[in-house]
Amino acid sequence: MAATPSFSSSSSASSSLMSYLLGFSVFLTLFLSSLEKGFAVEENQLLHQHAHTVELNSLLPATSCSPSSSAKGHDNKEPTSSSTVLKVVHKHGPCSGIKKNKSKIPTHAQILNQDQARVDSIHSRVNTKKSPSAATVDKLRPSAETKIPAQSGSVVGSGNYIVSVGLGSPKKMLSLIFDTGSDLTWTQCRPCAKSCYKQKEPIFDPATSSSYVNISCSSATCSELVSGTGNTPGCSSSTCIYGIQYGDQSFSVGFFGKERLSLTPTDIFDGFLFGCGQNNQGLFGGAAGLLGLGRDKISIIEQSALKYNRFFSYCLPSKSSATGYLSFGKGGGSSGAVKFTPLSDVSQGGSFYGLDVVGISVGGKKLPISGTIFSSSGTIIDSGTVITRLPPTAYKALRDAFQQGMKSYPSAPALSILDTCYDFSNADTVTFPKISFEFGGRTTLELDPTGIFYAASADQVCLAFAANADDSDIGIFGNVQQKRVQVVYDVAGGKIGFAPAGCP
Ligand SMILES: *[C@@H]1O[C@H](CO)[C@@H](O)[C@H](O)[C@H]1NC(C)=O
Ligand SMILES: *[C@@H]1O[C@H](CO)[C@@H](O)[C@H](O)[C@H]1NC(C)=O
Repeated sequence: MAATPSFSSSSSASSSLMSYLLGFSVFLTLFLSSLEKGFAVEENQLLHQHAHTVELNSLLPATSCSPSSSAKGHDNKEPTSSSTVLKVVHKHGPCSGIKKNKSKIPTHAQILNQDQARVDSIHSRVNTKKSPSAATVDKLRPSAETKIPAQSGSVVGSGNYIVSVGLGSPKKMLSLIFDTGSDLTWTQCRPCAKSCYKQKEPIFDPATSSSYVNISCSSATCSELVSGTGNTPGCSSSTCIYGIQYGDQSFSVGFFGKERLSLTPTDIFDGFLFGCGQNNQGLFGGAAGLLGLGRDKISIIEQSALKYNRFFSYCLPSKSSATGYLSFGKGGGSSGAVKFTPLSDVSQGGSFYGLDVVGISVGGKKLPISGTIFSSSGTIIDSGTVITRLPPTAYKALRDAFQQGMKSYPSAPALSILDTCYDFSNADTVTFPKISFEFGGRTTLELDPTGIFYAASADQVCLAFAANADDSDIGIFGNVQQKRVQVVYDVAGGKIGFAPAGCP
């Protein structure tokens, strides 16, 4: 019996020790777990603050058009009814209405290679005015009797987004690629003396329009083509001949004419200068031609300056299945959400809109890139370049920081110019670092989650940035990075503005 109490007492002592220890360990566990939770909460907040988590599907290409998202926008940042608003759709997307010949839809690698051709052409135009090869000039020859444009700078690329405008009397609706990187507006014209490619709408016929007028070779207007196209105009039966070629080898040659342009039923411009193309070839994806939104005198921005005072804005939709807008004029004024940065001039690149990039942040951390890297290369914003191009020094810093934040995902093979790709095929949601650009005037733009990747498929989703060949080549802020951003061009006010989530 004696042993029992002692045992019992020792047991009770040990049990109290046990319970003390147990209690302590429970306390410790609770303490640690609460600490961990605390860390976890903090980490989640950090993740939430400096990373995006989105459904994989939202990053992948769409196959059907969802027209619910209209040109009028979907929130309070939409342009007001007093400005002129056109609907913007992707040229290869299901909303373009362009019938697809499957064998002609470009692959992702082809799209990216064309994009590089456009960029090469921008670089050769801005850095050095290279003269064209004889072969290029030959291609511009519309017919034997027509004088060819003798001298050429290269005007760039064909862009990716289309808008619909009315041309002629009575007006015919035409889908045009809109391009902030070039100036001349043109459309294919009957009788297509040399060649027209297939387009969605009937080809414009000046003979059936009562308002079409040819520009004569001797008029001062004809010589405006030199700066607007980079080519000296030609002359055929005293009619002024334009020729324009793009970085991807596309071109258009034809009569330089004047015509009634109807942006909307109420916004009508008589005597609008445009190219009536008789020899057209290239990657225009079934669009009838091109709408030039550059800074030169013959661009639509300058030709409509009396009415809109060189003010326009657009929003490129995040998916090819959605619609964005292109709007002319200030309307009710821009919303308070738009933050502006000074518009900078680009030497030799008269038609380009210059941006003053001063820094980039990834995952909330500013990249260690010397400001002179950006200031010595310069940067333009371009609606027609797909992938943003950075000085190699800046690109490496961006890629390294981005890869740090993406360690948990398996990598995937490179895609053309894109070297940082991931396999998301086993993921329902994807978490990735936020990226923001800092511009002069302390303006910061956080890219939309849809403005960071270029997705070929779920198992090959690539960081949508590329390096220039050299730190001295001009940087280009491309259209993937502009997705869903309301981009406001106040040319008269000398500034460009950005607001997030301007369209679906
Ligand atoms: C599609 O394009 C190919 C190659 O250019 C051509 O041979 C074919 O006839 C086209 N098909 C249709 C239906 O237009
Ligand atoms: C414009 O000029 C071309 C070439 O000289 C000519 O064939 C065409 O009929 C002219 N069109 C008009 C409306 O004058």
